[in-house]
Order: sequence, then C-alpha cells, then structure tokens
Amino acid sequence: MPEQPKSKHITWSKAHVGRKERAALLGHGSGTVWFTGLSGSGKSTIAMAVERELFQRRVLAYAFDGDNIRHGLNVNLGFSPEHRKENIRRIGEVAKLFNDSGVIVLTAFISPYREDRDAVRAILPEGRFVEVFVDCPVEECERRDVKGLYQKARAGKIPEFTGISAPYEAPVKPEIVLRTAELAVEECVDRVLRELVNRSWVAS
Ligand code: ADX
Repeated sequence: MPEQPKSKHITWSKAHVGRKERAALLGHGSGTVWFTGLSGSGKSTIAMAVERELFQRRVLAYAFDGDNIRHGLNVNLGFSPEHRKENIRRIGEVAKLFNDSGVIVLTAFISPYREDRDAVRAILPEGRFVEVFVDCPVEECERRDVKGLYQKARAGKIPEFTGISAPYEAPVKPEIVLRTAELAVEECVDRVLRELVNRSWVAS
C-alpha cells in the first residue's frame, strides 16, 4: 500500500506532454535498470559503462550511485533498515520522474531488502523496471575491498555492514543475473544492452 500524502489539501496536476511524445522527441524509450548487489560487486562500474555505451549511441541515460546520492538528496540517511528503505524509496521516486522525462535510469544501490526493491517495481509502469542481480560472492567482494570498507567492517568500525553484519536478500526473479566473478565488464554491458534492445527501449 503506497504511502498517502500528509495533507488532504493537495491535488494532482496532469502532465501536458506525454511519455510517447517525449520518446518521439528523443528517439528512444525509457525505463529503470536497477542494479542490486553487495558493496564491491560491480554495480556502479557496470551501470556507468552502460551509461557511456548508451551515450555513444545517442541515448540519454543517467546513472545514480549509492555513495553520490548519500552526499546530497539522501545526506540525512544512514544504514539502518528504515533508512535504507527510505533511501530506496526516494531513489525510486526520482527514477520515476527521470523516466517520465524520457531518460533511461541506471541505479547502483545495494538495496539489500527485497521488499524495498519490489516497492520501486510497483510504482513504475509495467515492464519499465529491469532488476539486475550483480551476483558476486561476499568473499570475492571482500578480497577486492575497493574502498577498504570490508576491512573496517571486520574490525568492527562500521556497524550494519551489508554481507558482514547486515543482511543481503538476493532477488528471487531478477530479469538479469550478472556473475561478476566470472564475466568481464564488457560482457555484462552487452547483456544489459541486449535486454534494452529486446524491450525496444533502444534500437539495435
Ligand atoms: S543501501 O543499502 O541503502 O542501498 P547504498 O547503495 O545507498 O546502500 O550505499 C552503499 C555504499 O555506502 C557502499 O558501497 C559503501 O561504500 C557505503 N557504506 C557505508 N556504510 C555502509 C554499510 N553499513 N553497509 C553498506 N554500505 C555502506
């Protein structure tokens, strides 16, 4: 059940320019590609590589990344389950606005809770949410430890660290699974692009 507005005294103004008109203007469709996985699994790397490839094809896409959004829009949120839920809810709403404006959104958030990801799927139009499970064993993420955070988490310096002291709920039926311990970045990018072409969001 979506949250209701706090005030009863607000109405909804209908847009004057529709999704199809914007798609015709831009020459491509829109939707949200939602990468989920552990810290260090490769979400941002792949999302940004897809963004670059789409840009080269003259497709307007925008990648949102966990650390960056937490410097601005979500600066007041931490890593408790409630704050992660609010983090994901806000990102979902922003993704929806970007999609309405015609932009393809690529999100790279751990988004560890199934319910929170499903809530985003539910607010987007049918078929406009592509869940990508960036599947990488925690041992491999910890071995990479790109930001040195696993080491700090093991030392007890970061509480509620996903995969160490906080849970990660893997998707049950993701549209795409990318095993990043086995695949090269280019192979992951190809797989995502194929999906976007199959969905006719972008031309082949
Ligand atoms: S989410 O769980 O709410 O989706 P989000 O993707 O925004 O997380 O932020 C994750 C990033 O924040 C990680 O890649 C890591 O750099 C950093 N981080 C800091 N503290 C934590 C923590 N306790 N658990 C996971 N990531 C953390």
